[in-house]
Amino acid sequence: VRIRPFGLERFFARWEFSTDFSLSSSDCETLSVARLLALEPGAQERLLELQLGYPPVEGSAELRSAAATSYERVEDDDVLVVAAAEEGIFLAYHALLGPGDHAIVETPCYASAVEVARSAGADVSCWQRRDADAWGYDLERLAGLLRPDTKLLYVNTPHNPTGSQMPRETFDGVMELAAERSLIVLSDEVYAGLEHDPERRLPAACDRYENAISLNAVSKAYGLPGLRVAWMASRNHALLEPIADLKLYTTICSSAPGELLAAIALRHRETLTRRTRKLVADNLAVADDLVERRDELISWVRPVAGSTGLVRVADEIDVDSWCGHLAEHARVLLLPGSVFDEPRHVRLGLGRRNFGAAIARLDDHLDGRPR
Ligand SMILES: Cc1ncc(COP(=O)(O)O)c(C=O)c1O
Repeated sequence: VRIRPFGLERFFARWEFSTDFSLSSSDCETLSVARLLALEPGAQERLLELQLGYPPVEGSAELRSAAATSYERVEDDDVLVVAAAEEGIFLAYHALLGPGDHAIVETPCYASAVEVARSAGADVSCWQRRDADAWGYDLERLAGLLRPDTKLLYVNTPHNPTGSQMPRETFDGVMELAAERSLIVLSDEVYAGLEHDPERRLPAACDRYENAISLNAVSKAYGLPGLRVAWMASRNHALLEPIADLKLYTTICSSAPGELLAAIALRHRETLTRRTRKLVADNLAVADDLVERRDELISWVRPVAGSTGLVRVADEIDVDSWCGHLAEHARVLLLPGSVFDEPRHVRLGLGRRNFGAAIARLDDHLDGRPR
């Protein structure tokens, strides 16, 4: 596979474990295994007695059933378990796209969404949203990108990195455009549950449209990225089958303890996502205060969903060197927007418990910043 280096993950690999604070993580504060097990009577005994054989390729019956209950029109066998959303993206693109296919990807985006599609040989167009339009969704621009050979559309809402949420009318419009042309929709819903106002939650794409695959994981809204468990739901098995076939060449199946713990987490969805939404809401107030006090240097389109936001930095600052300097001297990891092809921005991650302390450290270093 020929693919561009993953700028974001390289930055994290370089700095995540050698800084004191991560101010840019998209995952929310995690839980110990003990706290997760305490959610359900008998869970600890089940984990200790679990046999460590290969789970089924499509995922354990228990996990598929727990995942299916989060949808309205999905049965257990409409769910395929994968080892993290990252694997889901890789498998979906490589199973469903190839040379001669055209794909449209909503950008800016988590790099896999665009680079893995290119690596599968597809011609990729970007449905680019812009800071100048308050990261607004332009359906006409999307319609203008459609071609006779367009096969797949990737969307991500709630959105990383902007923290925006597709309005309901736009979501309906996207589904209609896709249905008119029988496009496959790969709907990355890994931040579902983190709508700051839960009333604004959208339906899952797989409930709304038969040719949609909804991708979700326990990594973000549940705070459990270390489990490396995700799932794809679609009522169209002709889409899931080639993905499952390709999975036989990547992981075959997921980790048995991971599947058990993920099933427990899914049965306690409300408890876990209420906790992460509260963390994000509290941290958003801290971020608001910083943006207000430092408005000569930073500004943003305030996030309304998810666990991240993009902050625009004044032109006088060279963002890449500033982020490198902060990681080295302030020991704060602040992700430069260049990894999203947004070089005037940095990403804030709003889901960590030590966010206030991290912001205070950043604030202390803002005056001595290099130009
Ligand atoms: C939009 C989006 N999709 C997928 C992923 C990958 O998630 P996972 O850690 O479950 O592989 C991320 C991670 O940041 C993401 O932001």
